[in-house]
Amino acid sequence: MDVILTGDRPTGRLHLGHYVGSLKRRVEMQNSGKYPTIFVMIADAQALTDNADDINKVRNNISEVALDYMACGLDPKKTTIFIQSQIPELCELSFYYMNLVTVSRLQRNPTVKNEIQLRGFKQSIPVGFFTYPISQAADITAFKANLIPVGEDQLPMIEQTREIVRSFNTLYKEVLVEPTAVLPENSLCSRLPGLDGAAKMSKSLGNCIYLADSANDIKKKVQSMFTDPTHLHVEDPGHTENNPVFTYLDAFCKDEHFQAFLPAYQNLDELKAHYQRGGLGDGTVKKFLNEILQNELKPIRERREELAQDVGEIFAQLKKGSENAREVASQTLHDVKAAMGIDYFGKSSLL
Ligand code: TRP
Repeated sequence: MDVILTGDRPTGRLHLGHYVGSLKRRVEMQNSGKYPTIFVMIADAQALTDNADDINKVRNNISEVALDYMACGLDPKKTTIFIQSQIPELCELSFYYMNLVTVSRLQRNPTVKNEIQLRGFKQSIPVGFFTYPISQAADITAFKANLIPVGEDQLPMIEQTREIVRSFNTLYKEVLVEPTAVLPENSLCSRLPGLDGAAKMSKSLGNCIYLADSANDIKKKVQSMFTDPTHLHVEDPGHTENNPVFTYLDAFCKDEHFQAFLPAYQNLDELKAHYQRGGLGDGTVKKFLNEILQNELKPIRERREELAQDVGEIFAQLKKGSENAREVASQTLHDVKAAMGIDYFGKSSLL
């Protein structure tokens, strides 16, 4: 039976990149009825590995992320939504997994390498940050999860988890499950570029559309988007590749959007062809993109506003989710300790 687990660091509100990269997929999996066991974790402890001096940022974003989740359609009745720090078993598992991983292996993890550079840690890397891939292996294995819906930047974490699982199962006993990453179906969605054309939407770059943005914010952001810098006049031929307006259309546009918002064209291929041969202005394309995004985000925003009326209820759901998650993690920890033979007072005791 499949077990799905995934999560996000609560360091800010979720944006369109999260939505196409993973949130939408999770909601589809939840609603397909094919996956009865889904865990979604708010990874506050992982967020603290590079935010020890800004606990409030992480604290305050727990409910923001939970609101984003539920507004997109994650339903706590079907999906166990929980807070990482409330599951102490994860620390215990990490502690034992640490013995199965070398420093040089951690140093080779490309995502961590990249993040260390981005954060400018140089020689001052917090140990907790450096070792977070191990703690992520604990997150995944504690629930015996086999399917991990993530963006492609998380592939090195899943690979490292698989290695830990294999080492553990070989050294001790087959108790851990090897996970597989589930990437977004549409490869264009793996990484939505920023509004400014940067490779990634990221809150530190200030190039995001947030799920909670007002209709007016979205409109202004779309109008300000980077396009093809060589497309100076409407009549100039334009490039649709590496043009974020078209990348977003690739991710969001369906044929029926043309009937509704831009009936002069049948589909995206026709629109692209016109842009490429010249005679189609950026304003028209942006206006179309704006209609599509408004259409997609309006129900999410409205639901979010409604849910935000009762944050107490959101925390009640998170508490329940965390209690349920803890039961599962605690069973796994029990199995792990038994496999290692460190359950001294259990059945296989030292007597
Ligand atoms: N590292 C993930 C991120 O930055 C968050 C995360 C923590 C996670 N634990 C996880 C994702 C376990 C998948 C599975 O987005």
